[in-house]
Amino acid sequence: MTAQAILLRGATVVDGSGAPRFLADVRIEGERIAAVAPQADARGAQVIDVAGRIVAPGFVDVHTHDDQIVLEAPVMLPKLSQGVTTVVVGNCGISLAPLVHPDPPPPLNLLGGPGNYVHTSMAAYAAAVTRARPAVNVAALVGHSTLRVATMDDPYRAATRAEQTRMVELLREGMDAGAAGLSSGVFYPTGAAADLDELALLAAVAGEAGGVYATHIRDEFDRVLDSLDEAFAAARRGGLPLVVSHHKCAGPRNWGRTVETLAHIDAARARQPIALDMYPYVAGSTVLDRDMVDGIIDVLVTWSTPHPEMVARSLADIAAEWGCTQQEACDRLQPGGACYFQMREDDVQRVLRHPATMIGSDGLPHDRHPHPRLWGTFPRVLGHYCRDLGLFPLEAAVHKMSGLSARRFGLADRGEIRAGAFADLVVFDAASVRDAATFEEPVAPSIGIDCVLVNGAIAYRAGRALPERAGRFVRRAA
Ligand code: ZN
Ligand code: CU
Repeated sequence: MTAQAILLRGATVVDGSGAPRFLADVRIEGERIAAVAPQADARGAQVIDVAGRIVAPGFVDVHTHDDQIVLEAPVMLPKLSQGVTTVVVGNCGISLAPLVHPDPPPPLNLLGGPGNYVHTSMAAYAAAVTRARPAVNVAALVGHSTLRVATMDDPYRAATRAEQTRMVELLREGMDAGAAGLSSGVFYPTGAAADLDELALLAAVAGEAGGVYATHIRDEFDRVLDSLDEAFAAARRGGLPLVVSHHKCAGPRNWGRTVETLAHIDAARARQPIALDMYPYVAGSTVLDRDMVDGIIDVLVTWSTPHPEMVARSLADIAAEWGCTQQEACDRLQPGGACYFQMREDDVQRVLRHPATMIGSDGLPHDRHPHPRLWGTFPRVLGHYCRDLGLFPLEAAVHKMSGLSARRFGLADRGEIRAGAFADLVVFDAASVRDAATFEEPVAPSIGIDCVLVNGAIAYRAGRALPERAGRFVRRAA
């Protein structure tokens, strides 16, 4: 008998593997699941009746920019309230470590205000996570743009051999400290000057250590196929699994083209391991970028340093009020961020349904008026897409949020419900679970998430985060 035993009684278990649900009790002892069985031993346990509720593995948010927020606001309510128990930080080439910089260029400013880049190494960042005791677990990618800004006086040009050697050293340190892999965002100016050789060189370092390569590809618009090919080649040469970040076909000219891109990805998957992540919305969100303002799609301002009064308004309105073009308005609002309504619903659904697609919010926790994906991603897939539209069975939805994700990112003993696994769990009501965050009112906890456990401790219950924060820095599996 252990002190901290909990028994979830009468659960409908969706175990994360994709297998059909079954009825069982789940007994937790300390930080792990001790038993999954009918009539499991209740002795010495706090018994929670979960009859009629789904018990699933805590969700893994594979695509986040939570590097700083886990330190700054470790309660992590936007994620906990969705049933998320692990976040993968460092996506899109942007990681807080390893970089010491007073005011790094966009898009590195997605991670909050200047002054956040103070971690000389991934080991130092991991130590900072441990000190902060966030409510959720943290796995980290090493960002390629971060490596470039750390090693180059000017990240907008090609790197020299010496600079690349220094990037390799920093990345190796990151992998030794337990990073899950390398990320890149060659779409962004800080990463764009890198060629395939540089990406393959670094991918190989992450690959040797057993990591993955996640990439925000060079072009999600007209040149999406070429950009996918570049990502395939970097991962193939690096000898490691690829994750295509937030897969989309952006811009009205490319709507409908996920038919092509998914076929292209499937053909490549015959030769190499490839997974995708995505968030369940037709709008993306990133820093303000005049190249993404085409005068056709809607653009919603999410933050602006010089014009905070324009936040939550559309760029078209602001331009009309100022009597200028949308591009000019974009320039005057800098630095800032926006939501871009650049996708079409049929593409979103097609990518969501793909068997290699995992769910990742890509939420931006420092934005004043954030994209609703920050608070709504996981319940939106469970409620809107799975239950209401019937896009896939609940078992498949959960798999895309847990088992598949944990395996892809090397999170040992997570993402599945079985004896011996970590007790990262979410209890929810399949009939009522839904997102509440909208583009108008983006800060809203989801409905129907009853209880969340992280490493065996109850982290969230009845709409409230509990004081015991039991998340930790999760090292890549050996
Ligand atoms: Zn990205
Ligand atoms: Cu991202």
